[in-house]
Amino acid sequence: ATIHDQKLHRGKGGELHQFAEEGRDVLTTAQGAPIDDDQNTLRVGARGPALIEDFHFREKIFHFDHERIPERVVHARGYGAHGFFETYESLSQYTRADFLQRAGEKTPAFVRFSTVAGSKGSFDLARDVRGFAVKLYTREGNWDLVGNNIPVFFIQDAIKFPDVIHAVKPEPDREFPQAQSAHDNFWDFISLTPESMHMIMWVMSDRAIPRSFRFMEGFGVHTFRFVNANDESTFVKFHWKPKLGLQSVVWNEAVKINGADPDFHRRDLWEAIQSGNFPEWELCVQLFDQTFADSFDFDVLDPTKIIPEEVIPVQPIGRLVLDRMPDNFFADTEQVAFMTQNVPPGIGFSNDPLLQGRNFSYLDTQLKRLGSTNFTHLPINAPKCPFHNFQQDGHMAMRNPTGRANYQPNSWGEGPRESPVSGYRHFPSEEAGQKVRLRPESFADHYSQARQFYISQTPPERRHIAMALTFELSKVATPAIRERMVAHLLNIDESLANKVASGLGIGELPQPADAAVAPRQDLEPSPALSIIEN
Ligand code: HEM
Repeated sequence: ATIHDQKLHRGKGGELHQFAEEGRDVLTTAQGAPIDDDQNTLRVGARGPALIEDFHFREKIFHFDHERIPERVVHARGYGAHGFFETYESLSQYTRADFLQRAGEKTPAFVRFSTVAGSKGSFDLARDVRGFAVKLYTREGNWDLVGNNIPVFFIQDAIKFPDVIHAVKPEPDREFPQAQSAHDNFWDFISLTPESMHMIMWVMSDRAIPRSFRFMEGFGVHTFRFVNANDESTFVKFHWKPKLGLQSVVWNEAVKINGADPDFHRRDLWEAIQSGNFPEWELCVQLFDQTFADSFDFDVLDPTKIIPEEVIPVQPIGRLVLDRMPDNFFADTEQVAFMTQNVPPGIGFSNDPLLQGRNFSYLDTQLKRLGSTNFTHLPINAPKCPFHNFQQDGHMAMRNPTGRANYQPNSWGEGPRESPVSGYRHFPSEEAGQKVRLRPESFADHYSQARQFYISQTPPERRHIAMALTFELSKVATPAIRERMVAHLLNIDESLANKVASGLGIGELPQPADAAVAPRQDLEPSPALSIIEN
């Protein structure tokens, strides 16, 4: 805007102050008091000590001192955008979810993409899994599909999550390496965790260095349930397919880009959306029933397994368009709180032990990170449909019950009531069994799908996997850990194991790993080996 009628004022010390121009807001304290001078603290004499009476200075510094909130314990570095989801056709046969009942229905959306291991200031093109977290603000509450760009996960049970994350993050004594998985702790854990082998194949593939967020797939990973109005359940796996297709960079490019422009993925999304080039994904589903689940080669509750698309086809059910960047990064992208437990009626959970654990973890972590049980009052987290309950008070409460009744049942005819008809009903699956800590036998095959993934790749893609494994493992200083990994690779693909072993200078191949026997955990201390440049 043109600056009109700007008045300049010379203060006592002779310095120039700018007055508010006509039509522009006057600077105030957080309490609304107009501020005359925002450049100089209140002092005794021009060269004297500062006065504690300077409430403006104290408030400004106090607020600045408290600007940071804890970064996410994982997925700290992320970038988000607003948009909408459009339903292609009614899915009432499978689900009563309101937003999937009508063709053409548009539902507001917010999406946050992220890396997993690096800190908030780390670089975009780390070799890492990418988070693909979607919040749909449906008319029956928020649905959070908190997915990744890889359809499987490192572990089968959420109780191991702190361990896998501790292992991938910087080592506690030296606080490095930052934002990368090439270190002894990570590969030590992986080599002792055969169930991670399928995921490792994906993480060593080009999928883990995407060209941009716009060229990535997304996956809900777990088996979920659709539940229709007759309380009939269909199992469902969710996939996001980018309209632009899949593209990755090669490692050489990733290394250079990280140095030249650590914000490469952020800048790409910002520039695409600001120039009206809105990225789009189709939401696709794989639908199957209990009979298929019982006959499938793997357990559909095992999050280290996929259901191949040629076995159960992937059907598009709608599209997601990202068309608006947040006005403020902190307000939306930093404060958004995704939780797997956020589901509308018509979408439910399976017994996947990773999903069940996540449903506990996210609520807990949001309270820690955002600091108050009222984080749902933040505009980015609040539903966009009417919502009513008797929750009250707590730090920073923006909404409290009105009137006399803050409980129910009450005799005053006040407040909301539950509705057995429209309310969320958990699918009444039959469950019985002993209380045990036991991994099911059906979760035991850790290598078949790792092999299927590897051999499904084109020759250049396979070469990239071999190079990535050689490079990453070359940074592991403990020979026994390298050998353990080669022992696993022998169960996946012999030629891959040979390539990696020769790249690492391992002359004699170890015996293939026996996944049924827990690997030895204790190691002889060994001298550091040199890093192989790739
Ligand atoms: C954050 C995905 C497993 C705990 C995230 C985010 C994504 C994600 C996308 C970032 C959300 C955002 O952008 O704000 C996944 C997937 C998993 C998985 C796909 C496996 C299939 C787990 C497990 C746990 C867990 C097993 C714990 C038991 C967390 C925590 C955060 C997080 C604590 C930080 C949340 C925050 O502070 O906002 N996860 N995750 N995740 N995840 Fe997971």
